[in-house]
Amino acid sequence: MSNTEQGKKLAAQAAIEYVPAGSIVGVGTGSTVNYFIDELAKIKNRIEGAVSSSEASTQRLKDHGIEVFDLNSVDSVPVYIDGADESNENLQLIKGGGGALTREKIIAQMAKKFVCIADETKLVDVLGAFPLPVEVIPMARSMIARELVKRGGQPVYRDGFVTDNGNQILDVHNLRIMEPAKLETELNDLPGVVTVGIFALRPADVLILGTADGDIRKI
Ligand code: 5RP
Repeated sequence: MSNTEQGKKLAAQAAIEYVPAGSIVGVGTGSTVNYFIDELAKIKNRIEGAVSSSEASTQRLKDHGIEVFDLNSVDSVPVYIDGADESNENLQLIKGGGGALTREKIIAQMAKKFVCIADETKLVDVLGAFPLPVEVIPMARSMIARELVKRGGQPVYRDGFVTDNGNQILDVHNLRIMEPAKLETELNDLPGVVTVGIFALRPADVLILGTADGDIRKI
């Protein structure tokens, strides 16, 4: 297993201690979360079930025999565990590399505590080296791409990819995001933008990083 994979797995294992007994757990999406789901399966008799941020995670949870609830039938989500493409020291994130950003943001918003899990390479000084995913309504794609260019970005259409919500993704290169909450708010205001992959208005509460030397670091 590579250092990166080892880091993801360590972070995923460490997140289990944040899962309250008897709770419905918010579950994100991606390769780090897949390790978490596999860990969650080991304690599945101690939880009520999960709410999921993607069809892929739902399938993996169900394959492990973990019940997946419709978010509308749930009053509260005590903890949400998800990965990230980048995090800064303020736990503001870029997410959406796997295209699940909209449902991820919905559950993060509802969660009492958002625990982000990642290998240590995801921690950066300034967000933006990872291309920023923006989920858009298909008919608005080109208009929004032009707006992103005006802001110094270089949007690339994620060709052939359709989100779980039937929308498209623009991956925006060349950004150095100095004020994440401000850019998130500004892009949220563009008609046709469904979700911006900046998670700054609702950042993570805890970041667990798995390190190359087999340790974990919490921020
Ligand atoms: C999916 C996400 C993921 O959390 C993010 O892409 C990180 O994925 P991975 O754990 O595979 O590195 O936001 O939409």
